[in-house]
Amino acid sequence: MSNLENTILVDLARKLFRGCTNFHIEPDSVKLMTWSWQELFVDLTLRSPVIKKYPISTELSRIFLKKLINCIEPVQEVHDNLYAELCRAMNNSAIEDYCYRHYVISNDLNNIITMKETKNMVVNGTTGMRTWEAALMLSDWILCNKELFSSKDVLELGSGIGFTGITLAKFCEPKSVTMTDCHEDVLQVLCENVDINFPSQCKNRSSDGTTYELDNVSRVDVKMLDWNEITDLPNKRPDVILGADIVYDPSILKPLCNVLKIFCDRKNDVNIYIASIIRNELTFESFLQVLETYNFHCEKLMQPTNAHIEWDHTHINRCLLKIMRK
Ligand SMILES: C[S@@+](CC[C@H](N)C(=O)[O-])C[C@H]1O[C@@H](n2cnc3c(N)ncnc32)[C@H](O)[C@@H]1O
Repeated sequence: MSNLENTILVDLARKLFRGCTNFHIEPDSVKLMTWSWQELFVDLTLRSPVIKKYPISTELSRIFLKKLINCIEPVQEVHDNLYAELCRAMNNSAIEDYCYRHYVISNDLNNIITMKETKNMVVNGTTGMRTWEAALMLSDWILCNKELFSSKDVLELGSGIGFTGITLAKFCEPKSVTMTDCHEDVLQVLCENVDINFPSQCKNRSSDGTTYELDNVSRVDVKMLDWNEITDLPNKRPDVILGADIVYDPSILKPLCNVLKIFCDRKNDVNIYIASIIRNELTFESFLQVLETYNFHCEKLMQPTNAHIEWDHTHINRCLLKIMRK
Protein backbone atom coordinates (compact mmCIF):
# COMPACT_ATOMS: atom_id res chain seq x y z
CA MET A 1 0.00 0.00 0.00
CA SER A 2 1.36 3.46 -0.90
CA ASN A 3 1.89 6.14 1.74
CA LEU A 4 -1.03 8.11 0.38
CA GLU A 5 -3.38 5.10 0.47
CA ASN A 6 -2.26 4.43 4.03
CA THR A 7 -2.81 8.07 5.06
CA ILE A 8 -6.34 8.02 3.63
CA LEU A 9 -7.06 4.75 5.42
CA VAL A 10 -5.78 5.94 8.81
CA ASP A 11 -7.58 9.27 8.48
CA LEU A 12 -10.90 7.62 7.72
CA ALA A 13 -10.43 4.83 10.25
CA ARG A 14 -9.72 7.44 12.95
CA LYS A 15 -13.08 9.04 12.20
CA LEU A 16 -14.98 5.75 12.23
CA PHE A 17 -13.33 4.68 15.51
CA ARG A 18 -14.47 7.93 17.04
CA GLY A 19 -17.98 7.66 15.59
CA CYS A 20 -17.47 10.84 13.56
CA THR A 21 -19.64 10.92 10.43
CA ASN A 22 -18.52 14.35 9.30
CA PHE A 23 -15.96 13.58 6.61
CA HIS A 24 -15.25 14.52 3.03
CA ILE A 25 -13.38 12.36 0.54
CA GLU A 26 -11.62 13.96 -2.43
CA PRO A 27 -12.41 12.34 -5.82
CA ASP A 28 -8.70 11.53 -6.28
CA SER A 29 -8.73 9.68 -2.97
CA VAL A 30 -11.73 7.56 -3.97
CA LYS A 31 -9.72 6.28 -6.94
CA LEU A 32 -7.24 4.81 -4.42
CA MET A 33 -9.95 2.97 -2.48
CA THR A 34 -9.48 -0.28 -4.37
CA TRP A 35 -11.01 -3.65 -3.54
CA SER A 36 -8.02 -4.60 -1.34
CA TRP A 37 -8.01 -1.14 0.30
CA GLN A 38 -11.67 -1.58 1.25
CA GLU A 39 -11.05 -5.08 2.60
CA LEU A 40 -8.20 -3.84 4.77
CA PHE A 41 -10.28 -0.89 5.94
CA VAL A 42 -13.05 -3.18 7.22
CA ASP A 43 -10.54 -5.57 8.82
CA LEU A 44 -8.72 -2.77 10.63
CA THR A 45 -11.88 -1.04 11.83
CA LEU A 46 -15.26 -2.75 12.16
CA ARG A 47 -13.71 -6.22 12.34
CA SER A 48 -10.81 -5.25 14.59
CA PRO A 49 -10.58 -6.92 18.02
CA VAL A 50 -11.11 -3.59 19.82
CA ILE A 51 -14.39 -2.77 18.01
CA LYS A 52 -15.59 -6.37 18.33
CA LYS A 53 -15.06 -6.13 22.08
CA TYR A 54 -16.27 -2.54 22.47
CA PRO A 55 -18.72 -1.82 19.60
CA ILE A 56 -19.20 1.68 18.28
CA SER A 57 -22.72 3.02 17.87
CA THR A 58 -24.60 1.07 15.18
CA GLU A 59 -26.44 4.25 14.22
CA LEU A 60 -23.18 6.11 13.62
CA SER A 61 -21.58 3.20 11.78
CA ARG A 62 -24.70 2.97 9.57
CA ILE A 63 -24.45 6.66 8.64
CA PHE A 64 -20.69 6.38 8.11
CA LEU A 65 -20.90 3.29 5.87
CA LYS A 66 -23.75 4.67 3.76
CA LYS A 67 -21.75 7.82 3.15
CA LEU A 68 -18.56 5.90 2.35
CA ILE A 69 -20.35 3.50 -0.02
CA ASN A 70 -22.03 6.43 -1.78
CA CYS A 71 -18.60 7.93 -2.44
CA ILE A 72 -17.04 4.68 -3.66
CA GLU A 73 -19.94 3.26 -5.72
CA PRO A 74 -19.67 5.60 -8.77
CA VAL A 75 -15.91 5.01 -9.06
CA GLN A 76 -15.04 1.52 -7.77
CA GLU A 77 -16.70 -1.79 -7.15
CA VAL A 78 -17.83 -1.82 -3.52
CA HIS A 79 -16.38 -4.68 -1.44
CA ASP A 80 -18.85 -7.28 -0.12
CA ASN A 81 -17.54 -6.74 3.40
CA LEU A 82 -18.58 -3.07 3.35
CA TYR A 83 -22.10 -4.07 2.31
CA ALA A 84 -22.14 -6.85 4.91
CA GLU A 85 -21.16 -4.43 7.67
CA LEU A 86 -23.81 -1.96 6.51
CA CYS A 87 -26.48 -4.70 6.59
CA ARG A 88 -25.36 -5.71 10.08
CA ALA A 89 -25.66 -2.12 11.28
CA MET A 90 -29.07 -1.74 9.61
CA ASN A 91 -30.39 -4.94 11.18
CA ASN A 92 -29.48 -3.77 14.65
CA SER A 93 -32.08 -1.23 15.62
CA ALA A 94 -31.69 -1.50 19.41
CA ILE A 95 -31.85 1.84 21.19
CA GLU A 96 -28.39 2.60 22.51
CA ASP A 97 -28.05 4.48 25.76
CA TYR A 98 -24.29 4.01 25.68
CA CYS A 99 -21.78 3.08 23.03
CA TYR A 100 -18.01 3.06 22.76
CA ARG A 101 -15.83 5.58 21.03
CA HIS A 102 -12.19 4.89 20.27
CA TYR A 103 -9.79 7.82 20.12
CA VAL A 104 -6.69 7.15 18.03
CA ILE A 105 -3.56 8.71 19.49
CA SER A 106 -0.78 10.01 17.23
CA ASN A 107 -2.28 8.40 14.10
CA ASP A 108 -1.43 4.93 15.38
CA LEU A 109 -4.37 2.54 15.05
CA ASN A 110 -2.80 0.35 17.76
CA ASN A 111 -2.70 3.28 20.17
CA ILE A 112 -6.27 3.84 21.20
CA ILE A 113 -8.19 5.16 24.17
CA THR A 114 -11.61 3.54 24.42
CA MET A 115 -14.43 5.37 26.16
CA LYS A 116 -17.85 4.16 27.15
CA GLU A 117 -20.07 7.21 26.66
CA THR A 118 -23.39 8.51 25.41
CA LYS A 119 -24.16 10.54 22.31
CA ASN A 120 -26.40 12.83 24.33
CA MET A 121 -25.47 16.23 25.75
CA VAL A 122 -27.20 15.62 29.09
CA VAL A 123 -28.06 12.31 30.77
CA ASN A 124 -29.57 11.99 34.26
CA GLY A 125 -29.12 15.73 34.74
CA THR A 126 -25.37 15.71 34.06
CA THR A 127 -23.19 16.77 31.14
CA GLY A 128 -20.51 14.38 32.32
CA MET A 129 -21.47 11.26 30.36
CA ARG A 130 -19.66 12.10 27.13
CA THR A 131 -16.24 13.30 26.06
CA TRP A 132 -16.29 17.00 25.25
CA GLU A 133 -14.12 18.77 22.72
CA ALA A 134 -12.27 20.62 25.51
CA ALA A 135 -11.09 17.27 26.92
CA LEU A 136 -9.62 16.36 23.52
CA MET A 137 -8.05 19.82 23.17
CA LEU A 138 -6.50 19.67 26.67
CA SER A 139 -5.28 16.11 26.16
CA ASP A 140 -3.68 17.06 22.82
CA TRP A 141 -1.83 19.86 24.60
CA ILE A 142 -0.84 17.52 27.48
CA LEU A 143 0.66 15.04 25.01
CA CYS A 144 2.74 17.89 23.54
CA ASN A 145 3.94 18.82 27.05
CA LYS A 146 4.41 15.47 28.78
CA GLU A 147 7.40 16.70 30.81
CA LEU A 148 5.11 19.01 32.83
CA PHE A 149 3.31 15.94 34.21
CA SER A 150 6.05 13.35 34.52
CA SER A 151 6.41 12.21 38.18
CA LYS A 152 3.82 14.77 39.30
CA ASP A 153 0.71 14.40 41.45
CA VAL A 154 -2.13 15.55 39.25
CA LEU A 155 -5.70 16.35 40.27
CA GLU A 156 -8.47 16.65 37.67
CA LEU A 157 -11.69 18.53 38.50
CA GLY A 158 -14.98 17.72 36.75
CA SER A 159 -13.39 14.71 35.03
CA GLY A 160 -16.65 13.43 33.58
CA ILE A 161 -16.08 9.95 32.18
CA GLY A 162 -12.34 10.48 32.26
CA PHE A 163 -10.73 11.04 28.84
CA THR A 164 -8.15 13.60 30.00
CA GLY A 165 -7.07 11.78 33.16
CA ILE A 166 -6.87 8.44 31.38
CA THR A 167 -4.74 9.94 28.57
CA LEU A 168 -2.45 11.51 31.13
CA ALA A 169 -2.10 8.28 33.14
CA LYS A 170 -1.46 6.25 30.01
CA PHE A 171 1.12 8.41 28.27
CA CYS A 172 2.75 10.91 30.67
CA GLU A 173 4.09 8.81 33.56
CA PRO A 174 2.67 10.97 36.34
CA LYS A 175 3.25 9.93 39.94
CA SER A 176 -0.51 9.88 40.47
CA VAL A 177 -3.70 11.05 38.82
CA THR A 178 -6.79 11.79 40.90
CA MET A 179 -9.92 12.08 38.77
CA THR A 180 -12.93 13.67 40.43
CA ASP A 181 -16.53 14.57 39.74
CA CYS A 182 -19.66 15.38 41.73
CA HIS A 183 -22.02 12.88 40.09
CA GLU A 184 -22.28 9.24 41.28
CA ASP A 185 -23.33 7.84 37.87
CA VAL A 186 -20.51 9.70 36.15
CA LEU A 187 -17.97 8.28 38.62
CA GLN A 188 -19.28 4.80 37.94
CA VAL A 189 -18.80 5.11 34.15
CA LEU A 190 -15.43 6.77 34.79
CA CYS A 191 -14.35 3.66 36.74
CA GLU A 192 -15.56 1.45 33.87
CA ASN A 193 -13.41 3.50 31.49
CA VAL A 194 -10.35 3.10 33.71
CA ASP A 195 -11.05 -0.67 33.76
CA ILE A 196 -11.22 -0.75 29.94
CA ASN A 197 -8.04 1.23 29.37
CA PHE A 198 -5.96 -0.38 32.12
CA PRO A 199 -7.13 -4.00 31.99
CA SER A 200 -4.38 -5.45 34.18
CA GLN A 201 -4.49 -3.09 37.13
CA CYS A 202 -4.97 -3.82 40.77
CA LYS A 203 -8.11 -2.14 42.05
CA ASN A 204 -9.29 -1.22 45.53
CA ARG A 205 -12.72 0.13 46.37
CA SER A 206 -13.50 1.96 49.60
CA SER A 207 -16.04 4.49 50.84
CA ASP A 208 -13.42 7.11 49.87
CA GLY A 209 -13.39 6.14 46.16
CA THR A 210 -11.58 3.70 43.90
CA THR A 211 -7.82 3.36 43.70
CA TYR A 212 -5.92 1.65 40.90
CA GLU A 213 -2.29 0.60 41.20
CA LEU A 214 -1.21 0.64 37.55
CA ASP A 215 2.44 -0.25 37.96
CA ASN A 216 5.22 0.85 40.28
CA VAL A 217 5.01 4.44 39.08
CA SER A 218 1.47 5.50 38.33
CA ARG A 219 -1.54 5.35 40.53
CA VAL A 220 -5.06 6.45 39.65
CA ASP A 221 -7.71 7.52 42.13
CA VAL A 222 -11.36 8.13 41.26
CA LYS A 223 -13.09 10.23 43.90
CA MET A 224 -16.18 12.26 44.58
CA LEU A 225 -15.35 15.98 44.69
CA ASP A 226 -18.16 18.52 44.64
CA TRP A 227 -16.98 22.13 44.39
CA ASN A 228 -19.93 23.08 46.63
CA GLU A 229 -18.77 20.75 49.42
CA ILE A 230 -15.38 22.11 50.34
CA THR A 231 -15.41 20.57 53.82
CA ASP A 232 -14.96 17.19 52.16
CA LEU A 233 -12.03 17.74 49.78
CA PRO A 234 -9.58 14.86 49.19
CA ASN A 235 -6.53 14.96 51.42
CA LYS A 236 -4.14 15.75 48.55
CA ARG A 237 -1.43 18.30 47.72
CA PRO A 238 -1.36 18.12 43.92
CA ASP A 239 1.46 19.63 41.85
CA VAL A 240 -0.89 20.18 38.92
CA ILE A 241 -4.65 20.72 38.65
CA LEU A 242 -6.51 20.15 35.37
CA GLY A 243 -10.04 20.85 34.17
CA ALA A 244 -11.73 20.50 30.79
CA ASP A 245 -15.02 22.21 30.02
CA ILE A 246 -15.81 23.05 33.62
CA VAL A 247 -16.44 26.79 33.10
CA TYR A 248 -19.98 26.96 31.76
CA ASP A 249 -22.32 27.55 34.68
CA PRO A 250 -22.16 31.04 36.28
CA SER A 251 -23.34 29.64 39.62
CA ILE A 252 -20.27 27.39 40.06
CA LEU A 253 -17.55 29.92 39.23
CA LYS A 254 -16.99 30.97 42.85
CA PRO A 255 -17.19 27.44 44.29
CA LEU A 256 -14.74 26.30 41.63
CA CYS A 257 -12.30 29.12 42.43
CA ASN A 258 -12.68 28.33 46.14
CA VAL A 259 -11.51 24.78 45.46
CA LEU A 260 -8.54 26.10 43.46
CA LYS A 261 -7.68 28.46 46.32
CA ILE A 262 -7.78 25.69 48.93
CA PHE A 263 -5.38 23.51 46.95
CA CYS A 264 -3.10 26.52 46.35
CA ASP A 265 -3.15 27.23 50.10
CA ARG A 266 -1.93 23.68 50.63
CA LYS A 267 0.79 24.04 47.99
CA ASN A 268 1.58 27.51 46.75
CA ASP A 269 3.23 26.65 43.43
CA VAL A 270 0.46 24.49 41.95
CA ASN A 271 0.08 24.88 38.19
CA ILE A 272 -3.52 24.90 37.03
CA TYR A 273 -4.56 24.29 33.42
CA ILE A 274 -8.17 24.81 32.40
CA ALA A 275 -9.42 24.20 28.87
CA SER A 276 -12.69 25.87 27.93
CA ILE A 277 -15.06 25.94 25.04
CA ILE A 278 -16.44 29.48 25.20
CA ARG A 279 -20.16 29.16 24.53
CA ASN A 280 -20.98 32.34 26.40
CA GLU A 281 -18.41 35.16 26.45
CA LEU A 282 -19.98 36.73 29.56
CA THR A 283 -19.63 33.54 31.61
CA PHE A 284 -16.00 33.21 30.59
CA GLU A 285 -15.30 36.87 31.37
CA SER A 286 -16.93 36.39 34.80
CA PHE A 287 -14.63 33.43 35.41
CA LEU A 288 -11.57 35.61 34.66
CA GLN A 289 -12.90 38.26 37.03
CA VAL A 290 -13.56 35.79 39.84
CA LEU A 291 -10.03 34.39 39.38
CA GLU A 292 -8.72 37.95 39.73
CA THR A 293 -10.61 38.47 43.01
CA TYR A 294 -9.06 35.22 44.30
CA ASN A 295 -5.63 36.65 43.48
CA PHE A 296 -4.90 34.33 40.60
CA HIS A 297 -2.84 35.26 37.55
CA CYS A 298 -3.89 33.85 34.15
CA GLU A 299 -1.95 33.23 30.98
CA LYS A 300 -3.57 32.16 27.72
CA LEU A 301 -1.60 29.29 26.20
CA MET A 302 -1.14 28.47 22.54
CA GLN A 303 -2.77 25.19 21.65
CA PRO A 304 -1.53 22.71 19.11
CA THR A 305 -4.15 21.65 16.60
CA ASN A 306 -4.50 17.91 16.20
CA ALA A 307 -0.86 17.20 17.06
CA HIS A 308 -1.73 13.85 18.68
CA ILE A 309 -5.53 13.80 18.94
CA GLU A 310 -8.11 14.87 16.41
CA TRP A 311 -10.45 17.60 17.67
CA ASP A 312 -12.55 20.27 16.03
CA HIS A 313 -10.43 23.41 16.04
CA THR A 314 -12.20 25.17 13.20
CA HIS A 315 -15.66 25.92 14.51
CA ILE A 316 -15.19 26.54 18.20
CA ASN A 317 -14.27 29.51 20.33
CA ARG A 318 -11.87 28.08 22.89
CA CYS A 319 -9.25 28.98 25.44
CA LEU A 320 -6.56 27.14 27.36
CA LEU A 321 -5.60 28.96 30.56
CA LYS A 322 -2.61 28.50 32.80
CA ILE A 323 -3.55 29.77 36.25
CA MET A 324 -1.13 30.50 39.08
CA ARG A 325 -1.10 32.29 42.40
CA LYS A 326 0.01 35.93 42.00
C1 LIG B 1 -19.11 19.54 30.38
S1 LIG B 1 -18.70 18.26 31.48
C2 LIG B 1 -16.98 18.05 31.14
C3 LIG B 1 -16.51 16.66 31.41
C4 LIG B 1 -15.08 16.36 31.00
N1 LIG B 1 -14.15 17.19 31.73
C5 LIG B 1 -14.91 16.57 29.52
O1 LIG B 1 -14.42 17.63 29.09
O2 LIG B 1 -15.26 15.66 28.75
C6 LIG B 1 -18.66 19.09 33.08
C7 LIG B 1 -18.34 18.17 34.25
O3 LIG B 1 -18.25 18.96 35.44
C8 LIG B 1 -18.90 18.25 36.48
N2 LIG B 1 -19.39 19.22 37.50
C9 LIG B 1 -20.37 20.13 37.35
N3 LIG B 1 -20.59 20.79 38.53
C10 LIG B 1 -19.70 20.26 39.41
C11 LIG B 1 -19.44 20.48 40.80
N4 LIG B 1 -20.14 21.37 41.49
N5 LIG B 1 -18.46 19.78 41.38
C12 LIG B 1 -17.75 18.86 40.68
N6 LIG B 1 -17.96 18.59 39.38
C13 LIG B 1 -18.92 19.26 38.75
C14 LIG B 1 -20.06 17.53 35.79
O4 LIG B 1 -20.55 16.42 36.55
C15 LIG B 1 -19.41 17.11 34.48
O5 LIG B 1 -18.82 15.84 34.58
